[in-house]
Amino acid sequence: MNNKELIKLDRSHVWHPFTQEATAPDPIPIISASGTTLNSTNGKKYLDLISSWWLTTHGHAHPTIAKAIAKQAKQLEQVIFAGFTHKPAVTLAKKITDILPKKLSRVFFSDNGSTSVEVALKMARQFYLNQGEQRDKFLAFEGGYHGDTVGAMSVGATTGFFDPFKTMMFPVDTISFPETWQDDPNVEKKEEQSLAELDKYLNKHKKQCAGVLIEPLVQGASGMRMCREQFMQKMAKMVKQAGVLLICDEVMTGFGRTGEMFASQKAKIKPDIICLSKGLTAGFMPLSVTVCSQDIYEGFLSANFDKAFAHGHSFTANSLSCAAAVASLKLFKKEKTLKKVAKIEKIHKQRITPLLNHEKIEKPRITGAIAALDFKTKDPGYTSKIAPLLKEFFINRGLLIRPLGNVLYLLPPYCISNKELHKAWDGIEAAIAEIDF
Ligand SMILES: Cc1ncc(COP(=O)(O)O)c(C=O)c1O
Repeated sequence: MNNKELIKLDRSHVWHPFTQEATAPDPIPIISASGTTLNSTNGKKYLDLISSWWLTTHGHAHPTIAKAIAKQAKQLEQVIFAGFTHKPAVTLAKKITDILPKKLSRVFFSDNGSTSVEVALKMARQFYLNQGEQRDKFLAFEGGYHGDTVGAMSVGATTGFFDPFKTMMFPVDTISFPETWQDDPNVEKKEEQSLAELDKYLNKHKKQCAGVLIEPLVQGASGMRMCREQFMQKMAKMVKQAGVLLICDEVMTGFGRTGEMFASQKAKIKPDIICLSKGLTAGFMPLSVTVCSQDIYEGFLSANFDKAFAHGHSFTANSLSCAAAVASLKLFKKEKTLKKVAKIEKIHKQRITPLLNHEKIEKPRITGAIAALDFKTKDPGYTSKIAPLLKEFFINRGLLIRPLGNVLYLLPPYCISNKELHKAWDGIEAAIAEIDF
């Protein structure tokens, strides 16, 4: 099939995610990838600077992970996970719980980020119900994104992505998120405000609230909005004192993005439930885990099936996905991956500094491998008209940078070389210089 035929068939039969198919340019066909580079069928190369929707960690087509999947595929590709188990899942559960805070000791598997959040919400809700407490409320942070299934949309409603589905969602309470950036003079005020809202909410509703849900340190989809570790600590303390479950959605921040293995670890907080996906399998296979404390797990134990967690997916704990995740965790150790993240952060800092007072940009911010800045526009937000211009500008230069509206960010695979990262920043500098709006 040549390029033209492939595109024609795609346009006749395929429906792409988060895409306005009527106006979007033709998708770019990719035939192979290696490290940070995507190779298109027409011979063009693209530097993947967003880790293909925040998935890739060690690099595309990393041979160690490819080998682990191939080996597992010849042995056991999949088995029903109710009443059965297998070595890749058990090994992964042990490895994950070994690197999480001690209290997070039980692993529930599903297959994508949204389902890991659905599992967390249902788990929290039924946990209380099983003890005879009806807790119908959840508290989330404004701008938090947690996925596209109905429960995940409900807790992420303030992102504004889900307006057509308003009547399908259940009501969720929200408080402000103290987003901040370098040299932000108002950070303390914003944190005080958010904590005051939390205090007021918990005082009133702590006995009806099943969980407080947060993307720790960085809200991804709403524009790489960052908050400080000290805010996370104060927030976590208040939630704990109120006796409400703290749920950290680390679907994006997990596996090194913020500089530590987990953002909650970097912020020195210990959630009761954590949601992980994306980088879990190094971006190779669909898999997620919702890891909870032993207390929560024990809340479901009974002679009665009614108290069991009646939730599961066909591909729960798929053995190929688990094998990929196990291989990835080994690589984190072997390749000293977090050191690579520290190197990326250093270059981000070096390159963002000259832009700090640039008239066209604002809110420069960095956490670990994630660097972001806002283009000043009259129409900020996800639908900003600057977004397609920027996207095209970068793609034409062989850079896969996909702005979130007027927010430009880099979130590269950790194998990126210094030269490649500087090339990305050169591209950003060129965009700032050349694009006017
Ligand atoms: C923080 C967070 N939670 C949940 C999700 C949903 O994950 P998925 O797209 O795998 O359903 C995402 C996806 O971007 C995310 O960033």
